[in-house]
Amino acid sequence: MDTSTQIVHHGENRDDYFHAINPPVVHASLFGYNTYQEFVDARREENHRPFYSRHFNPTVGVLEQKFAALEHAEAAIAFSSGMGAITAPLLALLSAGDHLLVTDSVYGPTRQFCNDTLTRMGIEVGYFTAAESADLSARLQPNTRLIYCESPGSLTFDVQDLPAVARLARERGILTLADNSWATPLYQQPLDFGIDIVVHSGTKYIAGHSDLTLGLLACSAELFERIKPTAALLGANLSPADAYLALRGLRTLPVRMARHRDSALEVARWLEQQPEVRGVMHPGLPSFPGHALAQQQMSGSSSLFSFKLHPGTEKARRAFVDTLELFLIGVSWGGYESLILPLTSAYKSDPAWRYRRGLDDDTFRTSIGLEDPADLIADLENGLAAWRRAMD
Ligand SMILES: Cc1ncc(COP(=O)(O)O)c(C=O)c1O
Repeated sequence: MDTSTQIVHHGENRDDYFHAINPPVVHASLFGYNTYQEFVDARREENHRPFYSRHFNPTVGVLEQKFAALEHAEAAIAFSSGMGAITAPLLALLSAGDHLLVTDSVYGPTRQFCNDTLTRMGIEVGYFTAAESADLSARLQPNTRLIYCESPGSLTFDVQDLPAVARLARERGILTLADNSWATPLYQQPLDFGIDIVVHSGTKYIAGHSDLTLGLLACSAELFERIKPTAALLGANLSPADAYLALRGLRTLPVRMARHRDSALEVARWLEQQPEVRGVMHPGLPSFPGHALAQQQMSGSSSLFSFKLHPGTEKARRAFVDTLELFLIGVSWGGYESLILPLTSAYKSDPAWRYRRGLDDDTFRTSIGLEDPADLIADLENGLAAWRRAMD
């Protein structure tokens, strides 16, 4: 069944809620039972049926069932943010003395969590480059327990070789995890490559309307049993009201993604032609170093990419951004609105890493929204004209 059909029909148990088409928000912290035995049975199944909403909630459950199906997984867990979905499996599966291998292009706060929190707990953390991902054997240690990918990355868009990482890890009994926020399950299903766990900032495309933070994790039933108890103890569970918004966003994901994909490619190709632009980092462009691998692993591309202007002054960079009328200045991405992020002002996690990776002060990241791409291009044209005037 196609993913767009699954999004509409999978996991909807309408007999359970008065045949309503749209699952209602079950605003309940707890669920009460009439007999001792009913209570004991519900307690035993607390992670799978109504008992207490930190473990399971029916509205959240519909979202989890749909998401598991989309990622070709047996089970899923929804969280109140992407960082909830990222930190829970790391805390559940790693112990002091273990070694964790992470992609060098990982999302800044994930890197910070690994370097600060996990290191403080006695977990060793190492990093690998996208080029190394084809054969990580030289990077493995006897105590390597988990390999963390994020492909493509969300600043440099590094594409890692997910099948190669999964193959090597399975041979050595090492777990693998991939952040799939950029591609969404519509364009990439890492579990099909042998990756064990998929995580998402559902805040981005899945929710899609910049109105909630959302985390999602998908994995096997066996890994679910290992991760879920820690997730419930950490307490970053999704609220039923936000699950409702997430379901509402998810329903239009296929139509939104097609528009995001096409508009972003149109804007990226246009930017590549502009004399003020030094380069465009978008996995869907043949000029991008990871393009061939991206074509093998993904069936489409999304709308977050970076570009570099020629070295300019701070005055010119400000003139460019301030002239844009349709691009809001902000972090995050994947919503219906277009965004621009001047990296010099926004990226605080690790400036040394940013410069090492060539993301200099003339680099901008953009998230292309659902506006008419011709309007966005006209806006960017005005911005580049302002940049030129400021450079004269
Ligand atoms: C690639 C990626 N992963 C994870 C996250 C964290 O998600 P959240 O902000 O929903 O906690 C983000 C947020 O920007 C992200 O860009």
